[in-house]
Amino acid sequence: MSGGTPYYLTTPIYYVNDSPHIGHAYTTVACDALARFMRLDGRRVMFLTGTDEHGQKVDKSARAAGLDPQSFCDKVSENFREMGRLMNISNDDFIRTTEPRHIRASQAIWEELERAGEIYLGRFAGWYSVRDEAFYEESEIKDGKAPSGAEVEWVEEENYFFRLSAWQDRLIAHYERHPEFIAPRARRNEVMSFVKGGLKDLSISRTSFAWGVPVPGDPKHVMYVWLDALTNYITAVGYPDRESADFRAFWPADLHMVGKDIIRFHCVYWPAFLMAAKIDPPKRVFAHGWWTVEGQKMSKSLGNFIPPQQLVAEYGVDAVRYFMLRELPFGNDGDFSHRAVVSRINGDLANDFGNLAQRVLSMVQRYCEGRVPAPGPLEPADDALFAAARGLLAKLRAEFAEQAFHRALELIWHVVAEANRYVDEQAPWALRKSDPARLATVLYVLAETIRHLAILAQPVVPAAAARLLDQLAQAPERRDFAALAAHPLAPDTLLPKPEGIFPRYLEAATTA
Ligand code: MSP
Repeated sequence: MSGGTPYYLTTPIYYVNDSPHIGHAYTTVACDALARFMRLDGRRVMFLTGTDEHGQKVDKSARAAGLDPQSFCDKVSENFREMGRLMNISNDDFIRTTEPRHIRASQAIWEELERAGEIYLGRFAGWYSVRDEAFYEESEIKDGKAPSGAEVEWVEEENYFFRLSAWQDRLIAHYERHPEFIAPRARRNEVMSFVKGGLKDLSISRTSFAWGVPVPGDPKHVMYVWLDALTNYITAVGYPDRESADFRAFWPADLHMVGKDIIRFHCVYWPAFLMAAKIDPPKRVFAHGWWTVEGQKMSKSLGNFIPPQQLVAEYGVDAVRYFMLRELPFGNDGDFSHRAVVSRINGDLANDFGNLAQRVLSMVQRYCEGRVPAPGPLEPADDALFAAARGLLAKLRAEFAEQAFHRALELIWHVVAEANRYVDEQAPWALRKSDPARLATVLYVLAETIRHLAILAQPVVPAAAARLLDQLAQAPERRDFAALAAHPLAPDTLLPKPEGIFPRYLEAATTA
């Protein structure tokens, strides 16, 4: 982490009972692109991910695996770190809810809520879904199932309750004062109408199992796993020490990225807990959509959970990252199909961007002895391409600020297309004999445009962009957004021999 205005963003922490799959990889990749963008833009970024290890669901999975819950968590939490390495994720911290720092923070927030008079002891009788780790109202149960389709069980036990019902008006006031708090807009409407429908007090402890954070002063209760889990976001920045440098710099978080299924926890319970504990709520929660795979819901019984290893082995990490962020408007649901991935790889990546870089850099090798040529006077077409490349950063900032990754990529690829058109129109190969001075200008304009594209593509395709910047002989300290305007390509720089950055995907030959 360097200087600059702090920027704090988080993924949900993943339940360790599942193996990592596309859904987890998706949230994490989206956050990673944003974290990289902000770092390149000079922000001091704190990017947090981790694992959610307490609660009944994990307890049951551990038993099923014949392990005590702690050993089970130690083992399976590693799968999520491994997923991070595979997907080229640049997180600054990885939190596990079984760590002492987190147990301390969870108990501290409990005590603050208790001191504030927000907690009382009562008796819970109602529906609980272990899969969702959620309580449901009678009115929400349809055909004996939760709205998510999960099984529910009837639970009656002594529980502590949080006075959520008292927070309805203050939550609505918060949503109204901060329209950017919940995105996209459809999700905001959904949360508003849920809260306007009235809130019941929320059970925040359990007594029928022991795998959780003990309730301070009453250890036969463990804290409700969502109160424990949500608290991870403040644990990682030093809570309960509110005066710590990290807490002061990074809280309130700039963004919690979540899937649409867990919006109620993040946009209703979490801000209520925080306000009740006199802590500022996060600035924004963005709920993205869900992927189906080849048109089908992912499920264990269909056996279509694609592990990230398989994706990366098949397509390469950059291609998967690009596909996930380009294929659908961020926020919408979408389908992950082999055909769609291959079409993005061979179209956008190989044909459009890869080919542009390859043809321009090969011409620099062939016609200019591998040295960046010195440009002469610029013509209107040169100015137009430069203007498009140089205008990108401001536009991308606006799109990344709204988590519109698909639009950001569309803008970058629009300049890729303009650069390809410019190559065809200027036909540098024909200038070689007729006008070598013009050839030098055209190749310079193209190489400098490619430098912009490579720097700006780093958040989404970091490895390929790095290879391209190597081929442009750019030093590591000249790859951030400040370098775009500050360090144009220097004529006479010797460039290494170009190599393709985005390989085509070739279907394995099938025999009829
Ligand atoms: N442990 C909770 C989060 C606690 S955060 C304080 C949890 N974990 S989870 O592992 O079940 O889910 C994590 C994320 O994966 C969720 O944001 C969920 O939306 C996302 N996805 C799970 N399946 C998905 C798809 N098929 N597609 C896209 N994202 C999906 O919930």
